[in-house]
Amino acid sequence: TWTPDSFVDETVAELKAKIGDDKVVLGLSGGVDSTVAAVLLHKAIGSNLHCIFVNNGLLRKNEFTDVLKQYEGMGLNVKGVDASARFLGELAGLSDPEAKRKAIGKVFIDVFDDEAHQIEDAKWLAQGTIYPDVIESVSVNGGPSATIKSHHNVGGLPDFMKLKVVEPLRMIFKDEVRRVGASMGIDKELLGRHPFPGPGLAIRILGDITAEKVRILQEVDAVFINGLKESGLYDKVWQAGAILLPVNSVGVMGDERTYEKVVALRAVESTDGMTADWVNLPYEFLQKTSNKIINNVKGVNRVVYDISSKPPATIEWE
Ligand code: XMP
Repeated sequence: TWTPDSFVDETVAELKAKIGDDKVVLGLSGGVDSTVAAVLLHKAIGSNLHCIFVNNGLLRKNEFTDVLKQYEGMGLNVKGVDASARFLGELAGLSDPEAKRKAIGKVFIDVFDDEAHQIEDAKWLAQGTIYPDVIESVSVNGGPSATIKSHHNVGGLPDFMKLKVVEPLRMIFKDEVRRVGASMGIDKELLGRHPFPGPGLAIRILGDITAEKVRILQEVDAVFINGLKESGLYDKVWQAGAILLPVNSVGVMGDERTYEKVVALRAVESTDGMTADWVNLPYEFLQKTSNKIINNVKGVNRVVYDISSKPPATIEWE
């Protein structure tokens, strides 16, 4: 019978035999799959596993530094690369959702390839691909590997894609990945994280992206997500986040008329992201969250709640 412990023992033994003393490169995303894959490989080959964690400037508030610290605390050999400016530069002036995804995919590949080149004699590229990614072939949420699949069909392959591929999770499902992670002692909170799209906040800022808009959305998102956690609602929701709309609306503060941004909050229940229902969050929670956002986040004077299910609406707005 399958147990997380036996999976760990067998997989670590297999990885040792397969990889020997070779060096392996792995892109960490902060998500569950890449983290569990990294810890398994770390158990097998120690510091011959070279992890790269790229900050694209589109992560949640404080996410890059917090998660990097967490990775270091787990003993992983990880290099954090802050490429925010490069991503924002490439995104400047782009409004079309697919154009934004393409730009992000392109910069990610360039940055990752530069970093991979600095690891001399790397022989393997490890990925956190899980079974649903394998059967769908194009994963919705496969992090770096999915980005590469959909964005590097033209021109030559970057060098790191010529490495031999190792995917220790390719036969198991998400819930099993979480159990494997728990049996290796990975932090519960990390294992329970909501899915987060590879292009990050770029597809939650409708229209063009600026550093200021990213800052506003990070603040709003942090109020919402921390509120869900404090109210014990986070684990009851499959995915949640905030969307910055490309419209201003009129408001009033004291005697002053304001003309500021509108944000939408979205929380859904789902099992695989293919279909989703909006979550009936308590009015009291919505009321508190809305007040907190409007009182604390400069530049926002209106909050709305998205009550659309998928289909026909998608989870993300772009
Ligand atoms: P949609 O918006 O298609 O989202 O209902 C379904 C799931 O996929 C995530 N998503 C993405 N993940 N790159 C990703 O890695 C993307 O471009 C992307 N677009 C959507 C979304 O967050 C949800 O979990």
